[in-house]
Amino acid sequence: MAKIIVAFQPEGKRVQLEPGTTLLSAAIKGGVDLTSICSGQATCGKCRIIVEDPTAVNEITEEEVQRLSQAEIEKGVRLACCTKPNSDLTVKIPETSRTGKQQLQVEGIETPIQLEPNVKKYYLEIEIPTLEDAKSDVDRLVESLQNAQGLPDLQVNFNLIKELAKKLRDYDWKFTAVVWKNQIIDIEPADTTSRIFGYAVDIGTTKLAGYLIDLTTGIVVSAGSLMNPQIPYGEDVIARLNHPDQNKLQEVVCEGIDKILEELVEKTGVKREEIYEMTVVGNTVMHHIFLGIYPLYLGRSPYPPVVRNTIVIPARDLKITINPNGPIVVLPTIAGFVGADTVGVVLATEVYKKDEMCVALDIGTNTEIVLGNKEKLLAVSCASGPAFEGAHIQFGMRAASGAIEKVEIDPETLEAKYTTIDNEPPIGMCGSGMIDLVAEMLKAGIIDVGGIINQNLVHPRVREKDGLFEYVVVPASESGTQEDITFTQRDVSQIVLAKAAIHSGFKLLFKRFNLKNEDIQTLYVAGAFGSHINKESARMIGIFPEIDLNKIIVVGNAAGTGARMCLVSEKAEILAEQLSKTVQYLELGIDPDFQKVFLNSNIIPYADLDEFPEMSQKLKELGKYPENPPPKF
Ligand code: FES
Repeated sequence: MAKIIVAFQPEGKRVQLEPGTTLLSAAIKGGVDLTSICSGQATCGKCRIIVEDPTAVNEITEEEVQRLSQAEIEKGVRLACCTKPNSDLTVKIPETSRTGKQQLQVEGIETPIQLEPNVKKYYLEIEIPTLEDAKSDVDRLVESLQNAQGLPDLQVNFNLIKELAKKLRDYDWKFTAVVWKNQIIDIEPADTTSRIFGYAVDIGTTKLAGYLIDLTTGIVVSAGSLMNPQIPYGEDVIARLNHPDQNKLQEVVCEGIDKILEELVEKTGVKREEIYEMTVVGNTVMHHIFLGIYPLYLGRSPYPPVVRNTIVIPARDLKITINPNGPIVVLPTIAGFVGADTVGVVLATEVYKKDEMCVALDIGTNTEIVLGNKEKLLAVSCASGPAFEGAHIQFGMRAASGAIEKVEIDPETLEAKYTTIDNEPPIGMCGSGMIDLVAEMLKAGIIDVGGIINQNLVHPRVREKDGLFEYVVVPASESGTQEDITFTQRDVSQIVLAKAAIHSGFKLLFKRFNLKNEDIQTLYVAGAFGSHINKESARMIGIFPEIDLNKIIVVGNAAGTGARMCLVSEKAEILAEQLSKTVQYLELGIDPDFQKVFLNSNIIPYADLDEFPEMSQKLKELGKYPENPPPKF
């Protein structure tokens, strides 16, 4: 059958496809930047494209009619996941449908740790075999190393055994042995003991971060990041674990990790063979997919992981081009939705050492909260959903160029002041901007504590459109898309739902420990999103409990720090395994108070306003404190 050629503009990328293929599949095939939060399920509405010739594609579908406005349909806007070309055509991808250049967090807290890597090097000059001493090359190597360094129970990597005879003789019996734990994984000519490197990786659902580390000093030589190449196959973990081609997802994430490494070695001059160990953290779904473990039941109640322990796998098996005999150490997980990334955050923040009660929080599509101290740690996973990443929000987007990241609303004029990422003209709002918006709309009286837009406000910024009230954040004259950027009643409700999920997690954890807000010594906020969030706004709307702002510490990519710690310290790796067993997972859904707490959390910040005295006081000063108390369940 004749192939169809689609040209994606503005890049001009041409992709060949079979008739019957969707334009979303064509974009994925061609590596074209196109957002697809629902993985082609026609539910997110983010894969909007413009088709120049409507006769070159199938009829508009029922799903598209539901997701697109009449004006868009008239302009030729379609959903790429519903559109199938029947002849060659040109497709335009608007700026708002691109994932764009994302803000990717690499930096994380620096936690002091003693340098004790699993990889060590020893220089040796050994006796050559003779007729009187014709022991095997392996025995000669092991005995020499044991005698010189007193290392017990040494094994030799089988791939090294295969090449050992040649290497020993080529190196004239003077060489450096590379030892990982009790295994000799390689030998190198001459004395290379001053060059030992490792690679630590954080596999996030949205981004990958990689750190090249000098294991003789523990210092990060270079770090890099990349959008997770699995995104076109589904933006959240549920879409990924349900994806029918898991091999592909494993392949692309390994390629992404290798691509970051390529940049790092090019920048630093470190050779790939000099990188002898890689450590990996990630949520449980990323962990399973990376390892090629069937992940489907992570998404089915009771959400069991297939495996929780640390897994060691040779680099050559995953085609990641560090030293092929080097191990990839994938750190352990805690539960189905509390992964190795949380273990990394716990390690990095050291909450397991604290006398006082502390919280480690990592906000994402799933938000993990770990609460406790050196006596006991409890973890929960809150289904906060992808709203903070822009999904299901009319003008929502990820933290990329042109995203509104900060907003202030003048309570008198209701005019908005905003800043965008890279100071580009605004094209949408990212999570931190939306959190600001909800807080500012509350202070300005545009919404009430129930999150309902005040329909009695007479102001050009507050209006009804297609039966839905909305606030105009940016008028068309200022926007990068030449249309109004608005925040609708439905959008407010999505953000309130997301915050309710997180707040419920806090409430039920506090209940288990019988704690009040003031009992918390420190709240560590991890992750890229947490690094950009306005602490005051997040506290005001109840994402954070009402604690002193000075007690809220942003720790950046703490999961990545945890992966780095396990690379430079054998003890940290052992501790990670212990923590994965001692941190107890609490399933929120089975707590008898869950429903009640969740319903109460749908009030901003919470049905019991007394728990937020500072916020209540602020609303009183602004004259926006509710006359009637919000409903409480
Ligand atoms: S609507 Fe097409 S990918 Fe979500």
